[in-house]
Amino acid sequence: MEIKVFENDSDLARCAADYFEETITAKPDAVLGLATGASPVETYKELIRRCKAGRISFKKVTTFNLDEYCDLPRDDKNSYYTFMRENLFDKIDIPAENVHIEDGNAADPDAECRAYDEKIKAAGRIDLQLLGIGTNGHIGFNEPAEAFTEGTFRIRLSESTVKANSRYFTDSAMPEYAVTMGIGSIMRAKRILLIATGAAKAEAIRNTVKGPISPACPASVLRLHPDAVLLLDAEAAALL
Ligand code: F6R
Repeated sequence: MEIKVFENDSDLARCAADYFEETITAKPDAVLGLATGASPVETYKELIRRCKAGRISFKKVTTFNLDEYCDLPRDDKNSYYTFMRENLFDKIDIPAENVHIEDGNAADPDAECRAYDEKIKAAGRIDLQLLGIGTNGHIGFNEPAEAFTEGTFRIRLSESTVKANSRYFTDSAMPEYAVTMGIGSIMRAKRILLIATGAAKAEAIRNTVKGPISPACPASVLRLHPDAVLLLDAEAAALL
Protein backbone atom coordinates (compact mmCIF):
# COMPACT_ATOMS: atom_id res chain seq x y z
CA MET A 1 0.00 0.00 0.00
CA GLU A 2 1.40 3.35 -1.01
CA ILE A 3 0.95 6.30 1.38
CA LYS A 4 1.19 9.94 0.33
CA VAL A 5 0.91 12.77 2.85
CA PHE A 6 0.01 16.31 1.75
CA GLU A 7 0.38 19.72 3.34
CA ASN A 8 -3.02 20.95 2.23
CA ASP A 9 -6.32 19.80 0.75
CA SER A 10 -5.71 21.37 -2.67
CA ASP A 11 -2.45 19.48 -3.21
CA LEU A 12 -4.18 16.27 -2.13
CA ALA A 13 -7.13 16.92 -4.46
CA ARG A 14 -4.81 17.69 -7.38
CA CYS A 15 -2.96 14.43 -6.82
CA ALA A 16 -6.24 12.48 -6.65
CA ALA A 17 -7.42 14.23 -9.83
CA ASP A 18 -4.12 13.30 -11.52
CA TYR A 19 -4.92 9.61 -10.95
CA PHE A 20 -8.34 10.13 -12.54
CA GLU A 21 -6.85 12.07 -15.44
CA GLU A 22 -4.25 9.36 -16.04
CA THR A 23 -6.94 6.66 -16.00
CA ILE A 24 -9.34 8.50 -18.33
CA THR A 25 -6.59 9.59 -20.72
CA ALA A 26 -5.29 6.02 -21.06
CA LYS A 27 -8.84 4.64 -21.35
CA PRO A 28 -11.54 7.17 -22.33
CA ASP A 29 -14.27 4.59 -21.57
CA ALA A 30 -12.90 3.90 -18.09
CA VAL A 31 -15.11 2.53 -15.32
CA LEU A 32 -14.89 4.61 -12.15
CA GLY A 33 -16.04 3.76 -8.64
CA LEU A 34 -17.10 6.89 -6.75
CA ALA A 35 -17.62 7.93 -3.15
CA THR A 36 -19.68 10.61 -1.44
CA GLY A 37 -19.12 12.51 1.83
CA ALA A 38 -16.74 15.35 2.62
CA SER A 39 -13.52 13.56 1.59
CA PRO A 40 -13.90 13.60 -2.23
CA VAL A 41 -15.46 17.08 -2.58
CA GLU A 42 -12.21 18.93 -3.39
CA THR A 43 -11.19 16.20 -5.82
CA TYR A 44 -14.55 16.47 -7.60
CA LYS A 45 -14.06 20.26 -7.84
CA GLU A 46 -10.68 19.69 -9.46
CA LEU A 47 -12.17 17.14 -11.90
CA ILE A 48 -14.91 19.66 -12.81
CA ARG A 49 -12.23 22.32 -13.45
CA ARG A 50 -10.24 19.94 -15.66
CA CYS A 51 -13.35 18.89 -17.56
CA LYS A 52 -14.40 22.51 -18.16
CA ALA A 53 -10.85 23.30 -19.29
CA GLY A 54 -11.05 20.45 -21.85
CA ARG A 55 -8.27 18.41 -20.21
CA ILE A 56 -10.55 15.43 -19.56
CA SER A 57 -13.91 14.23 -20.82
CA PHE A 58 -16.36 11.88 -19.13
CA LYS A 59 -18.44 11.33 -22.29
CA LYS A 60 -17.47 7.66 -22.50
CA VAL A 61 -16.85 7.06 -18.79
CA THR A 62 -19.13 4.80 -16.71
CA THR A 63 -19.48 5.32 -12.96
CA PHE A 64 -20.68 3.20 -10.06
CA ASN A 65 -21.25 4.77 -6.67
CA LEU A 66 -20.32 2.90 -3.53
CA ASP A 67 -23.49 3.36 -1.58
CA GLU A 68 -26.89 4.95 -1.03
CA TYR A 69 -29.17 5.39 1.96
CA CYS A 70 -32.34 3.30 2.20
CA ASP A 71 -35.79 4.74 2.85
CA LEU A 72 -34.82 8.21 1.70
CA PRO A 73 -36.42 9.68 -1.45
CA ARG A 74 -33.91 9.77 -4.31
CA ASP A 75 -34.28 13.54 -4.60
CA ASP A 76 -33.89 14.23 -0.87
CA LYS A 77 -31.16 16.78 -0.23
CA ASN A 78 -29.21 14.17 1.73
CA SER A 79 -29.44 11.32 -0.76
CA TYR A 80 -26.17 10.33 -2.37
CA TYR A 81 -27.91 10.67 -5.73
CA THR A 82 -28.43 14.40 -4.97
CA PHE A 83 -24.89 14.69 -3.60
CA MET A 84 -23.39 13.27 -6.78
CA ARG A 85 -25.48 15.49 -9.05
CA GLU A 86 -24.59 18.62 -7.09
CA ASN A 87 -20.93 17.85 -6.54
CA LEU A 88 -20.02 16.24 -9.86
CA PHE A 89 -22.46 14.86 -12.41
CA ASP A 90 -24.38 18.06 -13.22
CA LYS A 91 -21.09 19.88 -13.81
CA ILE A 92 -19.26 17.44 -16.11
CA ASP A 93 -20.05 16.01 -19.53
CA ILE A 94 -21.05 12.50 -18.40
CA PRO A 95 -24.20 11.08 -20.07
CA ALA A 96 -26.91 10.34 -17.46
CA GLU A 97 -27.19 6.73 -18.65
CA ASN A 98 -23.54 6.08 -17.77
CA VAL A 99 -24.11 6.88 -14.09
CA HIS A 100 -25.07 4.15 -11.62
CA ILE A 101 -26.11 4.53 -7.99
CA GLU A 102 -27.93 1.86 -6.01
CA ASP A 103 -31.68 2.34 -5.53
CA GLY A 104 -32.07 2.53 -1.75
CA ASN A 105 -35.86 2.32 -2.08
CA ALA A 106 -36.14 -0.81 -4.20
CA ALA A 107 -39.15 -2.98 -3.30
CA ASP A 108 -36.83 -5.99 -3.33
CA PRO A 109 -33.46 -4.83 -1.93
CA ASP A 110 -31.78 -8.22 -2.52
CA ALA A 111 -32.77 -8.21 -6.19
CA GLU A 112 -31.55 -4.61 -6.49
CA CYS A 113 -28.17 -5.59 -4.99
CA ARG A 114 -27.77 -8.56 -7.35
CA ALA A 115 -28.74 -6.39 -10.32
CA TYR A 116 -26.15 -3.77 -9.28
CA ASP A 117 -23.42 -6.41 -9.10
CA GLU A 118 -24.43 -7.67 -12.54
CA LYS A 119 -24.17 -4.14 -13.95
CA ILE A 120 -20.65 -3.74 -12.51
CA LYS A 121 -19.67 -7.11 -13.95
CA ALA A 122 -21.09 -6.24 -17.37
CA ALA A 123 -19.10 -2.97 -17.40
CA GLY A 124 -15.87 -4.90 -16.78
CA ARG A 125 -13.55 -4.27 -13.84
CA ILE A 126 -13.60 -0.88 -12.12
CA ASP A 127 -10.43 0.88 -13.29
CA LEU A 128 -10.20 3.35 -10.43
CA GLN A 129 -12.13 3.17 -7.16
CA LEU A 130 -12.26 6.25 -4.92
CA LEU A 131 -12.88 5.75 -1.19
CA GLY A 132 -13.25 7.76 1.98
CA ILE A 133 -12.95 6.10 5.38
CA GLY A 134 -15.23 6.21 8.41
CA THR A 135 -13.88 7.02 11.88
CA ASN A 136 -14.56 3.32 12.61
CA GLY A 137 -12.56 2.16 9.58
CA HIS A 138 -15.55 1.54 7.30
CA ILE A 139 -15.18 1.78 3.52
CA GLY A 140 -18.36 2.21 1.55
CA PHE A 141 -20.82 1.33 4.29
CA ASN A 142 -18.96 -1.87 5.15
CA GLU A 143 -19.05 -1.44 8.90
CA PRO A 144 -16.73 -3.30 11.30
CA ALA A 145 -17.93 -6.90 11.25
CA GLU A 146 -17.00 -10.54 11.86
CA ALA A 147 -16.23 -11.26 8.22
CA PHE A 148 -15.33 -9.34 5.06
CA THR A 149 -18.34 -8.86 2.79
CA GLU A 150 -18.57 -9.80 -0.89
CA GLY A 151 -21.05 -8.13 -3.27
CA THR A 152 -23.56 -5.32 -2.85
CA PHE A 153 -25.84 -5.71 0.18
CA ARG A 154 -28.18 -3.88 2.57
CA ILE A 155 -26.69 -3.00 5.93
CA ARG A 156 -27.87 -1.53 9.20
CA LEU A 157 -25.59 1.45 9.86
CA SER A 158 -23.47 1.35 13.00
CA GLU A 159 -23.99 3.75 15.89
CA SER A 160 -20.70 5.46 15.06
CA THR A 161 -21.76 6.08 11.43
CA VAL A 162 -25.18 7.38 12.49
CA LYS A 163 -23.39 9.71 14.92
CA ALA A 164 -20.90 10.91 12.30
CA ASN A 165 -23.49 11.48 9.52
CA SER A 166 -26.53 12.70 11.45
CA ARG A 167 -25.06 16.22 11.32
CA TYR A 168 -26.33 16.40 7.74
CA PHE A 169 -29.89 15.41 8.67
CA THR A 170 -31.06 18.65 10.22
CA ASP A 171 -34.70 18.43 9.00
CA SER A 172 -35.30 14.69 9.01
CA ALA A 173 -34.21 11.53 10.82
CA MET A 174 -31.08 9.87 9.50
CA PRO A 175 -31.83 6.56 7.75
CA GLU A 176 -30.85 3.44 9.69
CA TYR A 177 -30.08 1.34 6.63
CA ALA A 178 -28.03 1.73 3.47
CA VAL A 179 -27.12 -0.31 0.41
CA THR A 180 -23.40 -0.60 -0.23
CA MET A 181 -20.93 -2.28 -2.53
CA GLY A 182 -19.22 -5.06 -0.58
CA ILE A 183 -15.52 -5.43 0.18
CA GLY A 184 -15.23 -8.03 -2.60
CA SER A 185 -16.57 -5.53 -5.16
CA ILE A 186 -14.17 -2.83 -3.93
CA MET A 187 -11.15 -5.16 -3.93
CA ARG A 188 -11.76 -6.19 -7.56
CA ALA A 189 -11.00 -2.62 -8.72
CA LYS A 190 -7.71 -2.33 -10.59
CA ARG A 191 -6.58 0.64 -8.52
CA ILE A 192 -7.96 2.02 -5.26
CA LEU A 193 -7.50 5.58 -3.95
CA LEU A 194 -8.48 6.32 -0.36
CA ILE A 195 -8.69 9.93 0.83
CA ALA A 196 -8.57 10.75 4.55
CA THR A 197 -8.19 14.17 6.11
CA GLY A 198 -8.47 15.54 9.64
CA ALA A 199 -7.60 14.32 13.12
CA ALA A 200 -10.88 12.39 13.45
CA LYS A 201 -9.54 9.89 10.88
CA ALA A 202 -6.10 9.38 12.49
CA GLU A 203 -7.02 6.31 14.53
CA ALA A 204 -8.83 4.63 11.63
CA ILE A 205 -5.77 5.26 9.42
CA ARG A 206 -3.43 3.82 12.04
CA ASN A 207 -5.63 0.70 12.31
CA THR A 208 -5.76 0.46 8.52
CA VAL A 209 -2.00 0.65 8.08
CA LYS A 210 -0.62 -0.88 11.26
CA GLY A 211 -3.38 -2.94 12.86
CA PRO A 212 -4.26 -6.53 12.02
CA ILE A 213 -5.86 -7.15 8.62
CA SER A 214 -9.31 -7.77 10.01
CA PRO A 215 -12.97 -7.07 9.25
CA ALA A 216 -12.98 -5.25 12.61
CA CYS A 217 -11.26 -2.47 10.61
CA PRO A 218 -12.66 -3.02 7.09
CA ALA A 219 -10.16 -0.65 5.43
CA SER A 220 -7.25 -2.83 6.63
CA VAL A 221 -8.12 -5.24 3.78
CA LEU A 222 -6.65 -2.68 1.36
CA ARG A 223 -3.19 -3.89 2.40
CA LEU A 224 -3.94 -7.02 0.40
CA HIS A 225 -4.64 -5.01 -2.76
CA PRO A 226 -1.77 -4.76 -5.28
CA ASP A 227 -2.43 -1.10 -6.14
CA ALA A 228 -4.00 0.79 -3.24
CA VAL A 229 -2.92 4.36 -2.50
CA LEU A 230 -3.74 6.34 0.64
CA LEU A 231 -3.87 10.12 0.18
CA LEU A 232 -3.68 11.74 3.62
CA ASP A 233 -3.19 15.09 5.25
CA ALA A 234 -0.79 15.45 8.18
CA GLU A 235 -3.59 15.17 10.74
CA ALA A 236 -4.95 11.92 9.35
CA ALA A 237 -1.39 10.57 9.15
CA ALA A 238 -0.47 11.71 12.67
CA LEU A 239 -0.51 8.25 14.28
CA LEU A 240 1.54 6.46 11.60
C1 F6R B 1 -19.42 7.46 1.16
C2 F6R B 1 -18.83 6.32 1.85
C3 F6R B 1 -18.29 6.44 3.23
C4 F6R B 1 -17.48 7.71 3.45
C5 F6R B 1 -16.97 7.77 4.89
C6 F6R B 1 -16.22 9.07 5.16
O1 F6R B 1 -19.85 7.09 -0.15
O2 F6R B 1 -18.79 5.28 1.29
O3 F6R B 1 -17.47 5.33 3.49
O4 F6R B 1 -16.42 7.76 2.55
O5 F6R B 1 -18.05 7.68 5.78
O6 F6R B 1 -17.10 10.15 5.07
P1 F6R B 1 -16.54 11.64 5.05
O7 F6R B 1 -15.74 11.77 3.81
O8 F6R B 1 -17.78 12.49 5.02
O9 F6R B 1 -15.75 11.80 6.28
